[in-house]
Amino acid sequence: MSDLLLGRVLSFTADPFVAGPEAARLDEAVLLQGGRIAAVGGAQALRAAHPGARVTDYGARLISAGFVDAHVHYPQTAMIASWGKRLIDWLNLYTFPEEMRFADADYAANVAGRYLDLTLANGTTSVCSYCTIHPGSVDALMLAAQARGQRIWAGKTCMDRNAPEGLRDTAQTGHDQSAALLARWHGVDRLSYVITPRFSPTSTPEQLEAMGALWAANPGCLMQTHLSEQLDEIAWVKGLFPQARDYLDTYESFGLLGHGGLYGHAIHLEPREKDRLREMDASLIHCPTSNTFIGSGLFDMGGLKAAGHRVGLATDTGGGSSFSMLRTMAAAYEVGQLRGRALHPAELWWLATQGSARSLLADERIGNIAPGLEADLVVIDLGSTPAIAQATARAETLWQALFPTVMMGDDRAIHAVWIGGRLRG
Ligand code: GUN
Ligand code: ZN
Repeated sequence: MSDLLLGRVLSFTADPFVAGPEAARLDEAVLLQGGRIAAVGGAQALRAAHPGARVTDYGARLISAGFVDAHVHYPQTAMIASWGKRLIDWLNLYTFPEEMRFADADYAANVAGRYLDLTLANGTTSVCSYCTIHPGSVDALMLAAQARGQRIWAGKTCMDRNAPEGLRDTAQTGHDQSAALLARWHGVDRLSYVITPRFSPTSTPEQLEAMGALWAANPGCLMQTHLSEQLDEIAWVKGLFPQARDYLDTYESFGLLGHGGLYGHAIHLEPREKDRLREMDASLIHCPTSNTFIGSGLFDMGGLKAAGHRVGLATDTGGGSSFSMLRTMAAAYEVGQLRGRALHPAELWWLATQGSARSLLADERIGNIAPGLEADLVVIDLGSTPAIAQATARAETLWQALFPTVMMGDDRAIHAVWIGGRLRG
């Protein structure tokens, strides 16, 4: 059985930060077969070539690759929008007590399902998530994603110091439990394991070394961590690792810098750090709603993209204040404005789809609409509220029609979601 979807089909032929908005392409139809995109093109031609296909006509709605959220903490779902603290206090007051609850497998399963349903309702088809210290928290998310047919990445968050009793492993158990989870989940269906040391302050040098060894033994895995989010945090790292040249060096010297390394936030980078991240073609993950919500700072999207960095976009739920990649694009636009670089809607949309997929080294599979890619799609209503509809009424270009939804849209703009070629809702 094949499905032919008609609408305004948005895809990218290149990175618009490099090629400009012309990197975006509009077609009239996309054909799905066997869970993949089989063809993209004109409606008449595809109808004629595939008379047996089931046709769904989405009219003037936009058909895009599903959103890819490159850095989330699904265990922070219930404590999103917790008031008044900056990073370290926020972790101690809100985050760690909530993550403690994931010792209970039923609680983990409940939140995992709730989290994926919330993100799907926002058009996000793939996520890369931190879990908690508990191996069961990884099983819960993997099982929930497997049941929904989703491509996700997730890993056990390792911490062996500066975290409360009950939320610490050791260098050895962190390594061994991660290795066992990797063996259980990596490459099963659409699931991938990510090696996940939380950040340097919560790992001893021994644990960072053990994580580096695990990555060296499994170079096909991604590795995710946090880097240079807040100035207080950076000062703390310097105190904990007095011999390190900078924050990045606390990863680099333990084998935790490389291609396939995902560095969340990366706001206050020193020149050496930028150079090394670029040389290694590591991925920087921009989390704009989190960076404003926790008061972290302004990511330099313009400068880092111009220098050729690999950059993804993410909500950072629940340090981020939204499950929506539309809201996240809006925040990226606002942060860009505060840094003097207005991001074009094509750049924002690319970041939320192909850019994030590239940051996960998965752009050959997801994040775009092109033959051979997996059929994870979102159908967007470009007039989902009266405020948006009146703003788009006189739009003359695609970008004028799209930008009000980027800035003001939410889950009401999500008309339908397709996962692996199946209509999800
Ligand atoms: N740094 C270390 N852990 C976290 C976390 O859970 N959220 C954010 N935003 N930063 C972190
Ligand atoms: Zn994070």
